[in-house]
Order: sequence, then structure tokens, then C-alpha cells
Amino acid sequence: MPKVSHQISIPGLELNRASKIPAYKQVYTLLRTAILERRLQPGQRLPSSRLLAESMGLSRNIILLAYEQLSLEGFITGATGNGSFVAGTLPDTRPRLPKEQAPPEEIAPHNDVRFQYPVSDRFMQRESAPANVKPFQNPEPAMDHFPYRTWAKCAYRIFRNLEFEPLNYHDAKGYLPLRTAIADYLRVNRAIRCGADQIVITTGTQQALNLAAAMLLKQGDRFWIEDPGYVNARAVLEHAGGKACPVPLHADGFDVDHAVKKHPNASLCYITPSHQFPVGGTLSITKRLKLLEWATRKKMWIIEDDYDSEFQYGSNPVPALQGLDPHKRVIYLGTFSKVLFPGLRIGYIILPDREMADAFGYAKAFADRQNGITDQLILHEFIQGDHFTIHIRRMRQLYKKRQEILLELIQRLGEGLLRVEKQSGGMHLLAWLPHEMNDQEVAEMLRLHGIYAVPLSGYTLKHKQPPALILGYTAFNEKLLAQGVRAMVQLIREQASLLS
Ligand SMILES: Cc1ncc(COP(=O)(O)O)c(C=O)c1O
Repeated sequence: MPKVSHQISIPGLELNRASKIPAYKQVYTLLRTAILERRLQPGQRLPSSRLLAESMGLSRNIILLAYEQLSLEGFITGATGNGSFVAGTLPDTRPRLPKEQAPPEEIAPHNDVRFQYPVSDRFMQRESAPANVKPFQNPEPAMDHFPYRTWAKCAYRIFRNLEFEPLNYHDAKGYLPLRTAIADYLRVNRAIRCGADQIVITTGTQQALNLAAAMLLKQGDRFWIEDPGYVNARAVLEHAGGKACPVPLHADGFDVDHAVKKHPNASLCYITPSHQFPVGGTLSITKRLKLLEWATRKKMWIIEDDYDSEFQYGSNPVPALQGLDPHKRVIYLGTFSKVLFPGLRIGYIILPDREMADAFGYAKAFADRQNGITDQLILHEFIQGDHFTIHIRRMRQLYKKRQEILLELIQRLGEGLLRVEKQSGGMHLLAWLPHEMNDQEVAEMLRLHGIYAVPLSGYTLKHKQPPALILGYTAFNEKLLAQGVRAMVQLIREQASLLS
């Protein structure tokens, strides 16, 4: 029983003996709160550890531990033996007022650190639970056909045999065996000239674009961009200070002559030559050579985004532009977001030579040190076991079939209303609307009915296109595609009839 003469009057210093929180932590918290709420004043002497221990019926060690922690955090000062005092200047911790006393808007929002570039909410966050992936959301891989078991087996093998070495900080350019496997794959399948030392693994195309923008663009530099084109690429390049020079498209792709004539001083060109996003089509060989010749002469960088060319359904897939370039002007971007799954966040940049790749490696290290190693190990295991090529082959057949189904459905059910054309590759189709319709309004009306179709006009800058919807088909089976087309056609017909 503590002696009466030793009672210490610090209000609220009550220990909860039933609590699982260790006693020293409780004492620390009680004293800290008393200091923050000014029940203990700056400079006030604290009872000695012995007295406080006796008063609270605790061992002295418990009080010493609490004092030590308070002293470490700067709440109290003083050496053992000379007494402990509440610090004159408190550490920078906001006093915690009881909730009911706190003013409703205590901290003003940081308007000054808002991201200034208008990026759509869809880009920020997407609900991707299976039930939420609705026709014709694009571009979703067919996750119902993903080889989950094989992936899990690869992961199991990796985790079972984990060793210390790869778990440490690693080469910022990425796990070397994975880079070697990617180089081997691309040399054979995309006719790309590269070795593992030219590759930097990234967290997808988006990071690759950010690194390229940081390394290659200066404030005010002009860049050519397809119009319509990939908004997320333009966003990154503009955010880095670049000025977009929109270049129109023709049946054989990007209008190089227009770009040369109108924007001869551009220092960079972003392009999707194998499968133009979002209109489709392939850049002709004549234009490829013209573009490379100009880039070589003007020392212009070409960023080739080869985002979905594994899914080409014709007999002869078009090789990458990079493979035609002996003058080291092309920077090639690849991603596993379409061939495997976007949440994996693994992509890669291929630089023209090792020196440039090393420089990008530094930029990568600067941004986030490196990609997560375990995912790289699993992906490597997946590629080495041939599962990657098998999966691509299967998905190519599946997607080709799904495109045919969607085409047939729209041609039959949407006759006289929607116009679609077969695509030689990719993961989406364009459905052209009647000219008098507004694709943004149609997309919004469809969205309210649970159908997701992105309006083409959202991708155009200057060179306006007729109204059209971008329809992803790869993630949807025949039943969902049929339901989606039926509902979409009916809703668009109703809206079109209101306009006529
Ligand atoms: C044109 C284009 N490039 C690249 C990507 C892939 O981006 P990421 O690798 O960052 O997922 C997409 C995804 O939608 C795309 O549409």
C-alpha cells in the first residue's frame, strides 16, 4: 500500500490494470498526455521515479522506462539523480484536444500541392473486381483465362527457395535473368535489336514514359504525338514541360510529312506504330523509314510504345520499328499489363545502347530504387517455364475469336446504326456512331446503364474524328458480349431517334 505522504498529485494518473498495454507504456502515455494538455507545466519538476513508483504501486523500473521514453522524445529533461523536468519547449506535436472540442475543420486542405494536370478519375482508381469489369471496358485482359495455378506454382517455387542475395537492394535496371529472358523473347518475336544490358525494368509503360520525359525533355521542348493518341503519354510529356504537336493519322498511319512541315523543331516523337492507339492500323514501311530518316537527321528521339502487339491476328505480325533503326534514335517501351495483368506493374524500356540504359538505370534508382524483386523472380520463372509463350498463344486465339464475335454482333444487331471494321490486332474495336451524335454524351448515357465505352473524342486534340466508341472485347465471353451489344444498340437507337 503506498504511503500517504508519497501521494503524487498529477491528475488523471490512473493505471488500467486490466489492460493488455504494458504498464510502462501506460505511464508514458498518461504523462505525455498530462504534458500536452498542460496539466504538467513546462519546467515543472516531476516526482522522482521512486516516489512515483510507490505512489502508483508499481516497480521503479517501470517508471524509469517511461521517463526514458519521454526523455528520448524530448518531453522531459534532466539527468538521473538531479530530477526530471517537463521540457521548456515541447516537441512539435499538436496537442490532442478531446474530439468534441476540436474545431470542425482544423487543418486546411493543401491546395498548393494538388496535382495540376487534369487526369481522369478512371486513371487514378478503378474498381476491378470481376463484377465491376463491364462490357466494353478497355483494355482488360481475359482474367477468367489467366493461368492462376501455374502462376501460383511459380510463386511457390520462388518463395520456397528464396535466398538472401536477391532480397537485398538490387540492380536498379532490374533482375538480370529477367532482362535476359525479355531480350531473348523480343529478338525472336519482335525483331528487336537488344541485349539485356540495354533494358531497364520499370513499373509499366507509365513509369517508362516518366523516365523518358525526365531524361529527354527540357521545358518547352516540342514533341510529336498521334492525334488521336494515348492521353496518358501526352499527360506525362506535357507535365514534364513538353509542348504537344498533334499529328493527324491516315489509313497508313501517322502523317510524317505533316509533322515535318508543321513542327520541324520537335525533339521527340511518341508513337504506337505496330497498332495505333486508339484508332488501330499499322504504320506503313514507307512512313517508318521516313520517320527514322528524319529522326536521325534531326537527332530526334522516337518513343515507340509497343503496348499490345503480341495480339496480332494476321499471319505476319508487324516487326517493331526499333529493329529498323541502326542509328540509335528509338526508345522502345513494352509492358506486361496486356499480356499478363496490369496489376503486376512490370514493363520495360529498351535503350539504344548500354550507356543510355545505365543513365536511365540511375533515373530509375532515383525514382524508386528498383522494381519489387519477388514479382520479377516469379515473372522470370513463368517465362523460363514456357508458360508465357503458351499463355500468349492461347490469348491470341481467344481474343481473335472474341473480336469476331463482337464484330458479328454489331454488324447484325447494330445494322444501319453502328459501323465497325475488323482489326488485324489489339484488344478493342471502334464503333462509329451516326455523324449527328456526340460520343461523349452517348458514352455517359451508356455508363448510367452500366455499359462502359470510351468516347474517341476524349483522345483527340486538334484533328477531330467522327463520333465513335472504343469497345474493349478481350475480357468478355460470348454471353456478356451479346448482352452488352444488345443493350448498347437499343440505348443508342433510342437516343438517335430523339435526334431525328
Ligand atoms: C497505348 C498504351 N500504352 C501502354 C499501356 C500500358 O500501360 P502500363 O504498362 O503503365 O499499364 C496502355 C494501357 O492501357 C496503353 O493503352
